[in-house]
Amino acid sequence: MAHCGACHTPRNALGAERTAATFAGGEAENWVAYALNAQSPAPVPWTADALFDYLRNGWQKDHGVARGPMAEVVNNLSSVDADDVRAIAIYMAGVFGPPSPSRIQNAEVARTEAAQPRSGNAQASSSTSAPNATTPDDKDGAAIYAAACASCHETARALPYAGVDLHLSTGISAPDPRNVANTILYGLPARDGERSPIMPAFAASMTDTQIGSLLAYLRARFSQQPAWSNVDQTIAVARQAQAAFLQTAAEPPNITIHVPPRGQP
Ligand code: HEC
Ligand code: HEC
Repeated sequence: MAHCGACHTPRNALGAERTAATFAGGEAENWVAYALNAQSPAPVPWTADALFDYLRNGWQKDHGVARGPMAEVVNNLSSVDADDVRAIAIYMAGVFGPPSPSRIQNAEVARTEAAQPRSGNAQASSSTSAPNATTPDDKDGAAIYAAACASCHETARALPYAGVDLHLSTGISAPDPRNVANTILYGLPARDGERSPIMPAFAASMTDTQIGSLLAYLRARFSQQPAWSNVDQTIAVARQAQAAFLQTAAEPPNITIHVPPRGQP
């Protein structure tokens, strides 16, 4: 558990964990390690069962795939007994605490939106654009989403091979757009010799302005939160971090996903 706090607890100016803010959210390698307490930005509140699945398998159907430094953590946990992982999940569910009435209501909205039938058809989905997409930026974002994202994120294909419906994405509801910017820039690389979820990296095909429009649109359409500030700076920093990462990494980021046999939850 102390290990989890190394990333998920904020640090003071001297780099020490702020014990008064245990699990209130921290960062690692330019990824946000989300709050794992009552401040969690996850649209659907975490339960012990969901935490167990996520920590054991590297993904969970209401939350998506563990990426960045969290993928590494899941890799390391794969050598730990299921009972011990279960104990961590139960402990962490207690740290999250019971969701507040407003969170339960927000989760209801997110689940209902996510359960809308998906056309899987990029053109069709561009007409269901953000209800509050009023700026030209958002309109560009809607077009990019329809062309580059909807075919995977609005499909009947099962997780983890399809992307999660973005109403359920913690990244899109989080106070900081960093992890979504990282995901768009890095994608999810294919794993050698294994069937694995894949998302293309868009670093080479999108300008910072396009990613900015896309982020504004995603936030307006898929979250119940106010617009992000500092988006341009976040994208610029994420791109620099990604370039540095690609220069030093011999291997693309390793993401371990375990898919239970068909028919099991
Ligand atoms: C090396 C840093 C690091 C450590 C150690 C770490 N995490 Fe994470 N964790 C992250 C990052 C970064 C993310 C965001 C990943 C993403 O966006 O996919 C994350 C995401 C999560 C999430 C998903 C939250 C959400 O709402 O989507 C959970 C749950 C979680 N971690 C639990 C744990 C637990 C339990 C431990 C200890 C066993 C742990 N983490 C240890 C960095 C870390
Ligand atoms: C080839 C299919 C594919 C395409 C195209 C694609 N994605 Fe993904 N995406 C995935 C898969 C698979 C995942 C991993 C499962 C998950 O976590 O949703 C993912 C994950 C994500 C996540 C993380 C969700 C979370 O919180 O766990 C975000 C955000 C995201 N994609 C955004 C986008 C955006 C924006 C675009 C368009 C620029 C896009 N994706 C295009 C397949 C795709």
